[in-house]
Amino acid sequence: ETGYFTYDPSYTSTGSCQSAITYIDGEAGVLMHRGYSIEDLATNCDFMEVAYLLLHGELPNPDQKYDLEHAITHHTMVHEQIHKFLEGFRRDAHPMAVMCGVVGALSAFYHDSLDINDPRHRMISSHRLIAKMPTIAAWAYKYSLGQPLMYPRNDLRYAENFLHMMFATPCDTYRINPVLARAMDRILILHADHEQNASTSTVRLAGSSGANPFACIAAGIASLWGPAHGGANEAVLNMLEEIGSPSRTNEFVKRAKDKDDPFRLMGFGHRVYKNYDPRAKIMSRTCHEVLEELGMQKDPLLEIALELEKIALEDEYFVEKKLYPNVDFYSGLIFKAMGIPTSMFTALFATARTVGWIAQWSEMVEDRDQRIGRPRQLYTGSTARPFVPMDQR
Ligand code: SDX
Repeated sequence: ETGYFTYDPSYTSTGSCQSAITYIDGEAGVLMHRGYSIEDLATNCDFMEVAYLLLHGELPNPDQKYDLEHAITHHTMVHEQIHKFLEGFRRDAHPMAVMCGVVGALSAFYHDSLDINDPRHRMISSHRLIAKMPTIAAWAYKYSLGQPLMYPRNDLRYAENFLHMMFATPCDTYRINPVLARAMDRILILHADHEQNASTSTVRLAGSSGANPFACIAAGIASLWGPAHGGANEAVLNMLEEIGSPSRTNEFVKRAKDKDDPFRLMGFGHRVYKNYDPRAKIMSRTCHEVLEELGMQKDPLLEIALELEKIALEDEYFVEKKLYPNVDFYSGLIFKAMGIPTSMFTALFATARTVGWIAQWSEMVEDRDQRIGRPRQLYTGSTARPFVPMDQR
């Protein structure tokens, strides 16, 4: 009772929805896409296969995979005007600020000719977004360095093309290390979709009004940027560097348990998983593979991460609160080893999650019963009262 109207819990929309794309069992630590476990997908597929699965509901046969890969590859370039758009940013602009701005601006290039109720138009805009995200992310990085922007190459696969655009220059080609490219491809798979997380719910809510997909994805990028969500991988690296030595991990675990201290162990805990995030196990394995390939098994930050994980998994507070490492705990270590700056970590997450965002947006638009999202509230303000004229205040 708020004294204003009777609060009807059933009236408050939690924004929940029906979806056939991703299933999570937080207690059991299970993640499936269209019925396939994340372990099977990350081990046996590449990112384009998983993208096809998320978009179409089935694993692709060779022709279907070829068609998707060809369509994506041939949409990787962005309109030349985007160069001028980039030049409007300061060189030190955060890549996520650039991605928010540029992806939203794509509406001005592609939206007018788009009918979101036409399945063919939806697929074309989906391909455009999936294809252009790595280019925009890599260009944000190159622009921050003051280096020439590198164009995508049609002879490279998705993850390889991203690494090429990030690290090649007009003076020097970038030699694709197959172990790193495979690791990058697997990381894209692990970040592709995750049910109704904050950014996906943002995309769905924006899309429920009929907004165009470019604007909806820009809204998702904005939500993902937060350190409690996609920004956590960058925050994990900053935390490990602040800890500085395995001998100081206990000090930080103690701080994380102190209610008066706002510090939280970044990369730990999850709104849904009350067991080990299955993606974190695969990410940990990938991290060791990459560091071994690069001869960095003794990376000091890895030692701190391993010590932190060991302590936290045995600590009564973390065990009681069911706080386990999540997908962000190891990804930053891999990106750093690959030479990717911390500011780019969440931009990579957004690049991967665009497939999930687009699959979820399409699923919602295709649902004829879909209505505009309209979460309600529990009103806690003043009850009705008489107006007070200015001379009596
Ligand atoms: C992602 O939703 C998704 O699916 C997201 C994601 C995706 O793929 O889209 O999986 C990606 O966002 C992973 C999460 C990345 N964020 C971080 O690693 C940031 C650190 N984690 C925390 O901020 C926190 O765990 C959240 C934000 C992830 C979850 O926040 P909640 O819902 O408050 O956490 P909870 O309900 O599980 O917390 C239970 C208790 C709380 O204490 P009490 O209020 O019960 O006393 O544990 C505490 C929390 O304060 N707690 C932590 C903690 N996480 C939760 N204490 C210390 N360190 C932490 N990391």
